[in-house]
Amino acid sequence: MHQSPLLFEEPVNGRNRRVAGGIATSDVVLTAHVGGNAEVFPELLNLHVPKGATVADVTWGKGVFWQKIPAGRYNVLATDLKTGIDCRNLPYGDGSVDCVVLDPPYMEGLFRKSTHHMAGGGSHAAFRENYSDGKARSGGPKWHAAVTDLYFNAGQEAHRVLRGEGVLIVKCQDEVSANRQWLTHVEIINKYASYGFYCKDLFVVVRTNRPVIARLKKQVHGRKNHSYFLVFIKTSKKRLLTGVASSSPALGRVVPKGKMDPPQTEVPLAKKREPTKR
Ligand SMILES: C[S@@+](CC[C@H](N)C(=O)[O-])C[C@H]1O[C@@H](n2cnc3c(N)ncnc32)[C@H](O)[C@@H]1O
Repeated sequence: MHQSPLLFEEPVNGRNRRVAGGIATSDVVLTAHVGGNAEVFPELLNLHVPKGATVADVTWGKGVFWQKIPAGRYNVLATDLKTGIDCRNLPYGDGSVDCVVLDPPYMEGLFRKSTHHMAGGGSHAAFRENYSDGKARSGGPKWHAAVTDLYFNAGQEAHRVLRGEGVLIVKCQDEVSANRQWLTHVEIINKYASYGFYCKDLFVVVRTNRPVIARLKKQVHGRKNHSYFLVFIKTSKKRLLTGVASSSPALGRVVPKGKMDPPQTEVPLAKKREPTKR
């Protein structure tokens, strides 16, 4: 793929120093993509997650993200609420995984007290099936707050299981809910900063087909046809708050091949159910 060591600044004597050199090329990973998750995900994984890393995909769904990733490239731990593991309560020890992938339901219509009121009914059943566990929710926050609540709690849990400078990849989409614009990706970035996550990268995914709107009376907001992959690095809150994030060699560092902590072949399990190994 596009990964080139020239894209990264390696620490020189413990500091990042900008040096002239390199090659002229357009063969680089771009931030905006028209296409599907299965095409985009390998590119950002290739850029940010070293081969051999232990990656916990905690909202596995149908594993679409992994469709184009060669088997054996990563040590993948696949879990989902559908398989009995909640991403807010993972069966891994503290600091035990290199990367977490999080892609929970991103729209409030998938968090309803009754399945009759959930998004994706009737002819849109496949949507519900692909984007949620299809179950009604009771208690807890409502509407858009239900969406962010899950992202926030899952982010905290990801922070617990990630090793220092581990990578958290989050898929999300903004939404208009109750006639209000909610920039979910901004809410997530701000909240995760308070946990000690530095947002190192952001990718925009633009869908290839045009969305169709049933029962449009008057358009008020732009119809969303894009979503995001956010890439976070686990760091200490202190370093983030003191503004070291942009200059620290550790934070922006891509660990050279073979130099990272050895991949975990055995992850300490705290719960009975085991993730599926791929
Ligand atoms: C958007 S889909 C994920 C699609 C997946 N990334 C793929 O490539 O196929 C959202 C998934 O989150 C799961 N989910 C919802 N709530 C969850 C929770 N609390 N813990 C774990 N998984 C959850 C749903 O069952 C659903 O499979």
